[in-house]
Amino acid sequence: MPFSKIVILTGAGLSAESGLGTFRGHDGLWDHFNLEEVATPEGFARNPVKLHAFYNMRRGWLKEAKPNAAHVALAHFEEAHGGDVLTVTQNIDGLHEAAGTRHLIHMHGELGRALCARCGTSLPWTQDLSLTTACPVCHKAGFLRPDVVWFGEMPREMDRIHEALRQCDLFVSVGTSGMVYPAAGFVALAASEGAHTVELNLDPSEGASLFAEAHYGPATEVVPAYVETLLRG
Ligand code: APR
Repeated sequence: MPFSKIVILTGAGLSAESGLGTFRGHDGLWDHFNLEEVATPEGFARNPVKLHAFYNMRRGWLKEAKPNAAHVALAHFEEAHGGDVLTVTQNIDGLHEAAGTRHLIHMHGELGRALCARCGTSLPWTQDLSLTTACPVCHKAGFLRPDVVWFGEMPREMDRIHEALRQCDLFVSVGTSGMVYPAAGFVALAASEGAHTVELNLDPSEGASLFAEAHYGPATEVVPAYVETLLRG
């Protein structure tokens, strides 16, 4: 294995073949929903009922979704490498964990958790949320929200992520359009510190020219193939 410290960034394209769709591009979620209404704190303040309906729908999809061959290949890679592999996902589904990935940061939060805006408790949550749902800890209704990061909010664990990006010798980006910062800036940071950079995506992302190596095709094909190549060394 020529690489010892590896950061893998993943996006919606990784889970597309598990039936969870993507945000941008043909028939993406943002073709059907207004991002300002369902993915901002202002949207939540204006119309929480609409926002809860959007995330309740997506939480329902999670019940059916299974990890695909790409999630499984990444989990296998982490285990087989046995060293310093950090997966940073923008996805709020739990498919990396379901596949067995252990060293994982959910930088955009988790749909399978609820956050009480009143007492700050975050807890596992599989049911629908509504304005009448009471927080099990402070017992007040109307404050629970999906524990996800909306536009205008700070992504999670950025210090840890930046440190890993500065130290890694391989950065791999999987299934992300490179349209949303700060994740879109990770390739430039890793490359500036000397890492080899690889894009695995259906088609070239916004920042495709920044990657030293790229493989294009469905994640369930290109990810297992790339992992195989890496493990062969
Ligand atoms: N295999 C690999 N890549 C795919 C597949 C597939 N089967 N299907 C689609 N893709 C690629 C698309 O070509 C696109 O480049 O996945 C990417 C998905 O891009 P987006 O929909 O923009 O998703 P993502 O990059 O994860 O979005 C980032 O934006 O709306 C926010 O918070 C949301 O975390 C999300 C962030």
